[in-house]
Amino acid sequence: MIINGYGKKLIGEVKVPGDKSISHRSIIIGSLAEGNTVVENILMSEDTIRTIQCFQNMGVNIEKGNGTINIKGVGLFGLNKPKSILDCGNSGTTMRLLSGVLIGQKFSTTLIGDESLMNRPMKRIIIPLSKMGGNIGGREDEYPPLEIKPTDDVLQGISYELPVASAQVKSSILLATLYSQGITKIIENKTTRDHTERMLNYFGCNVFNRDREIVMDSNCKLFGKKVYVPGDISSAAFFMVAGTLMEGSNIIIKDIGLNPTRTGIITILNEMGADIKISSERLLNNEPVGNIEVKYSNLKGIQIRGDIVGSLIDEIPIIAVAAALAKGKTIIKNVEELKYKESNRIKAMVTELKKMGAKVEELSDGMIIEGVDFLRPAKLYSYDDHRIAMALSVAALKAQGDSYIDKHQCVNISYPNFYETLFNLIA
Ligand code: S3P
Repeated sequence: MIINGYGKKLIGEVKVPGDKSISHRSIIIGSLAEGNTVVENILMSEDTIRTIQCFQNMGVNIEKGNGTINIKGVGLFGLNKPKSILDCGNSGTTMRLLSGVLIGQKFSTTLIGDESLMNRPMKRIIIPLSKMGGNIGGREDEYPPLEIKPTDDVLQGISYELPVASAQVKSSILLATLYSQGITKIIENKTTRDHTERMLNYFGCNVFNRDREIVMDSNCKLFGKKVYVPGDISSAAFFMVAGTLMEGSNIIIKDIGLNPTRTGIITILNEMGADIKISSERLLNNEPVGNIEVKYSNLKGIQIRGDIVGSLIDEIPIIAVAAALAKGKTIIKNVEELKYKESNRIKAMVTELKKMGAKVEELSDGMIIEGVDFLRPAKLYSYDDHRIAMALSVAALKAQGDSYIDKHQCVNISYPNFYETLFNLIA
C-alpha cells in the first residue's frame, strides 16, 4: 500500500466499525443467554468472525445480516461438543474468553490459532482457571494449543489477584464463574476495560466493584437482549491522531464508545495539546457513547505511565506516532505488556519510526521519543499486526513523499475498510 498525504488535511464526518471487545462479548454472552439476542453495528472482521464460527461450531444458530447478527441463545448448558478443533485465528480475545466458557462444559475441546497466537502467553488464564478446579493445559504449560477437559466436580468461585493487568484474563475468570459455585472476587491493581462486567449485568447477572475488587455471584442467569455496539475508540484513535497532525483538519467521529476504561487516548492527546472535544454523550446498553470532534493542533511531549496505561494499551503505537511529531520529549513507561500482543509492539514501532527519521529509544517497558519537525517517507513493515499497520499509515501521511506499507492487509483483523475510510476523508 502506497501512502502520501503530505500537505493534505482530513475533513468531514466519519463512522468507524463497532468496538471489537464489545462485539466479541456480545457473541459470547448472547450465545450463552436464554432467548434471542440481536446485535446491531457489530464489527465484522477476521477476529470477531472467529468467535462467531467457534459458537456456530458448538451448535449456536447465528445469522448474519447487514451490520447485524441474530443469535438464538442456547442457555448456559446448551452448547454441543464442537465438530472440530476451535481455531481462534489471530484473536487472543477469542482464545482467552472462550477458555473461560469451555472450562465449564461437559465435553473436551482443543483451541489453536495462527502463528502469532500460538506464541502468545496463556499461563495467565491456565493458572486461575485451574485454581477454580478446571482442567486446562497448554504446550509447555504456557502456549496454545490449549486442551480443556471436563471435570467431575463443580468449579468453585475464587479470590484472585491479577498478576498482569489484563481484561482478557479478568473476563475469562468471570465467564468461568457462570459455571461455578459461590462468589468470585478479582483484585485488579490496574484498571482494565470493564465491558464484560457491564454486559453480564445488562444480560441479568450481578457483577459489581468494591474498591479494587470485582465481585460476581455465580448464581445468575443470562437473558437475550438487544445490543448496539458503539464505534471502536481504538479504531477512532487513528483518525484522532491523523486529524491532530494534519494542518487544517476538522473531523467528527460519530457514535464512539466512551467507556472511561478506554478513553485514555483522549485524555493523553489533550494533555499533549490536541483539540479533541466530546459531544452528544449518552448511555446505550450500559456503555457510554458520544461523538468525538478533532481539529488540527500542535502537540508537545509528555510522560505516560501508571494507571492510565490500562485505558490506552492498544493505542500506544498511534500515540508513538503523535509523540514522534510533538515538540519535546515523550516518555512512555509501564507498557511491557505490549511485547506480548499480536507483535512486539514496542520493538515494531521503534524500528519502523526510526526508518522515518524519528528519534526513538527502546526501553524494556516502553520508549522515549524526542519529537522531530518532519518524517521521511520509507518502506515500512506491519509485522502482520493490524494496529502497527494503521499507526504506520498515519505516520506515512505526514512524510514528505511516498511511503510503502508492507503487509497492510492485516487491517482486516479489526478494521476491514480502514484505507477506504481514510482516503475518503483526505482533502
Ligand atoms: C482486550 C483486552 C486487551 C487488549 C485487546 C482486547 C479485550 O488485552 O489489548 O486488544 O477485549 O479484553 P489484554 O487483556 O491482554 O490486556
